[in-house]
Amino acid sequence: MAEEKKAQIGVTGLAVMGANLARNLARHGHTVALHNRSVEKTDALLAEHGDDGEFIRTETMQELVDSLEKPRRILVMVKAGAPVDAVIDQLVPLLDEDDIIIDGGNSHYPDTIRREAALAEKNIHFVGVGVSGGEEGALNGPSIMPGGSAKSYESLGPLLEDISAKADDGTPCCAWIGTDGAGHFVKMVHNGIEYADMQVIGEAYELLRDVAGQEPGDQANTFAEWNRTELSSYLIEITAEVLKQVDARTGKPLVDVIVDAAGMKGTGTWTVMAALDLGSPVTAIAESVFARALSSTERETRLEAQKTLAAGVRESDTVGDAAFVEDVRRALYCSKLVAYAQGMEMLATASGEHNWDLKLDTIASLWRAGCIIRAELLQDIMAAYKDGAEPRNLLFAPVFRDVIEEYLPSWRRVVVEATERGIPAPVFSSSLAYYDGLRRPRLNAALTQGLRDYFGAHTYGRIDTDGAFHTLWSGDRSEIDS
Ligand code: 6PG
Repeated sequence: MAEEKKAQIGVTGLAVMGANLARNLARHGHTVALHNRSVEKTDALLAEHGDDGEFIRTETMQELVDSLEKPRRILVMVKAGAPVDAVIDQLVPLLDEDDIIIDGGNSHYPDTIRREAALAEKNIHFVGVGVSGGEEGALNGPSIMPGGSAKSYESLGPLLEDISAKADDGTPCCAWIGTDGAGHFVKMVHNGIEYADMQVIGEAYELLRDVAGQEPGDQANTFAEWNRTELSSYLIEITAEVLKQVDARTGKPLVDVIVDAAGMKGTGTWTVMAALDLGSPVTAIAESVFARALSSTERETRLEAQKTLAAGVRESDTVGDAAFVEDVRRALYCSKLVAYAQGMEMLATASGEHNWDLKLDTIASLWRAGCIIRAELLQDIMAAYKDGAEPRNLLFAPVFRDVIEEYLPSWRRVVVEATERGIPAPVFSSSLAYYDGLRRPRLNAALTQGLRDYFGAHTYGRIDTDGAFHTLWSGDRSEIDS
């Protein structure tokens, strides 16, 4: 009797991301075993897309496990959190040593670290994989960020590289990131940058609307034009698409009928929480998360504030001209650059903290295509970190340092204009504050240290000698070396 055909990989959880990754794998010639809690989803996928490639239909976890070649590879595509643990608990008793469980959801990296350690004790590999690119990317080529053991990547890597997006030079946008939770951590920071990227676009949109007087149709043209400059990126490209969309119901620009309350599923918040733990100043990401919170959770407060709080703005009937529009473009570029620089710095800090040995040039490289933050700028970021080069801060790389020097007057003008007109531009302005904070010879932190020492004897350092000092602020001796 002929050997039953085995699948190279199984996918459990066939909602849109799982289904599209399964289809992508099948389209690349891999036999894919399909499993879903309710078999109707499996059957619907087979009915609609069965001819994408070779699939094996399974109804139970046992059937799924039995249908796979060894070592088994099982991609879990269920909701992050408890559902992932539930699937692991079902799978583990059915697996053998060296089998690989892959979590392709947006799991929180401490969970991934915990799961990897627990399964390693049973000699089962657990690989947390960051997948970016949304539904379309999952089907046609996402950017893939796998963590887990280096050994698991030997068996899993070729498959994932196969289905990943490819950069213009043909490099797969998938590479081993580092042990345990490294893949999910990097995906989390990707999402944090994604928040900042969208927020700076939003700030530019508001300024084009309220200072330059552009209607959404004109704005769509402006963004489409900007997409032909160094700002070229997926998010700028789709901004033009969103802005030119007309609402079928009212005939108005669709953006004007969308409620101005931004949702979020949590990865941006996680990035900021992790950054706070690391002491990593990702101000652009933090401001973006808080801007979403102000828009949504504080919506009722905003409605009241519109009626009660004074504006105190500089009234102006001058409309921003073409020069102003160019200023906004430049401010957008500089702020975006700061967001990416802060994200990369956070990765460098986390790498040391978790012993991940993250390769920043590789990470920039695999963000060049497939993912939501893909942007022309990543080519230069990759070059700045090439071969382990570690500029102390990405903004020091000559390619970025020089362009910021040229664009700074525009950036400052836009922040002033926004401030005087009462238009919030939290990332434009906080990124500028971060930039100035970096380059100032003296920060006000000296006074903070004095205050801390005054009320809490927390001590301070001196500029002229080493050591920790405490002052008896009202005593006879003014200073003691502690
Ligand atoms: C991606 C996206 C994807 C998703 C996020 C964003 O890289 O493909 O980041 O993971 O869109 O969940 O979600 P929120 O904006 O809802 O937090």
